[in-house]
Amino acid sequence: MEFDGMKQLLLELIQQKKLVSATISQPRKKSDGLKRIKLKPVEIKGQYHIQLEYQFERILKHENVLLENFCSVLDSIFKKFRQFHGQFTDRIIQVQLSKKNKVFWKEEKTESIKEVSLSHNRKKNYLLDESTPYPFLVRLGVQTPDGKVKKQKYDKFRQINRFLEFIDDSLDYLSKDRQIRILDFGSGKSYLTFALYHYLKMEKGLDIKVTGLDLKKEVIEECNKIAKDLQYDHLEFLVGDISDYHDETSVDMVVTLHACDVATDMALARAVKWGAKVILSVPCCQHELNSQLNAPQLEIMTQHGLIKERFAALATDSIRAEILKLVGYEVQLMEFIDMEHTPKNILIRAYYTGRKPTKHEFERYKGFIDFLSAKPFLQKELEEYFIS
Ligand SMILES: C[S@@+](CC[C@H](N)C(=O)[O-])C[C@H]1O[C@@H](n2cnc3c(N)ncnc32)[C@H](O)[C@@H]1O
Repeated sequence: MEFDGMKQLLLELIQQKKLVSATISQPRKKSDGLKRIKLKPVEIKGQYHIQLEYQFERILKHENVLLENFCSVLDSIFKKFRQFHGQFTDRIIQVQLSKKNKVFWKEEKTESIKEVSLSHNRKKNYLLDESTPYPFLVRLGVQTPDGKVKKQKYDKFRQINRFLEFIDDSLDYLSKDRQIRILDFGSGKSYLTFALYHYLKMEKGLDIKVTGLDLKKEVIEECNKIAKDLQYDHLEFLVGDISDYHDETSVDMVVTLHACDVATDMALARAVKWGAKVILSVPCCQHELNSQLNAPQLEIMTQHGLIKERFAALATDSIRAEILKLVGYEVQLMEFIDMEHTPKNILIRAYYTGRKPTKHEFERYKGFIDFLSAKPFLQKELEEYFIS
């Protein structure tokens, strides 16, 4: 088969809307860093497009091309690459080109695919593609070097993706015309800190500076090493206690994920004082209220240690959410990840809007904590906001 005939045949199949997906690889030159391109059909505003996903070393870019304009795109693809692997509705086609464009064509009939998904909504899939190797996920041991998610790390992969969906939803609240400052308190091994950096910097192209803070020196050293190796220049990790961290005057986004007990409250208080526009916080092991709780009307519940502990945890998160509302945030409590994967699954999402609390909200807050005999750590930290 001739080179032009091969292109014509592929184009015809694509124009007949038979493409399911394709991968184009083996770049002729490595200089521009483009490693492969993935194709899939998508429907945008009722029109059939081909989506191109350009995979560079550390970045993904997307382009959607109308079907009638795809001919010239196919030309330029084969100027850059020598291998094509495509799944069509009734066959798989593999094309290998020699350096001088001699065509090796392999075609295999398959069972007919009746309906091709034209979904453009990437949220239906994961934000991080399951088969694309991401250097940070490979380095953190979540993926193998060829991009496979390791079986025992699948929950982590899912958690990272879920977290990125929350980050994605928060983008409108972040400034686009200056550097965005982000703090991750109690960052630990920092899967999510790396994911956040990758997503906002590499995929969204935002100007960000991210700091992860944790008490554990060795873990922080390892994270800094990985960040340096990956050339993540605006990502740093510091050893320290949240309560002693006073390095900033203003921060745009504060993240905490399973920061132990009142460490979450310390982080929330810092975020409020900095005027952070976005707070994403998944608390863990709330002990404070459990020991304070004294409400005879609740004894039917609190006589059972297990129920008391769960009630205290839920009440603590409700109190946290209410305090954030009282100081100007719109707040939602959301399910972070399915209960079957972790019981610590409530995410506090707060966006600063400067909302003014009503007198009724102050009163019902006070009534609630009095009823429980609660003395919330977060309220003490934010005392100045409660003096009326
Ligand atoms: C359960 S780990 C979670 C780590 C990470 N955020 C994640 O989701 O994988 C909690 C982390 O919070 C850190 N931490 C707890 N209290 C802290 C404090 N007061 N200041 C800084 N880090 C703290 C711990 O050292 C630990 O690494």
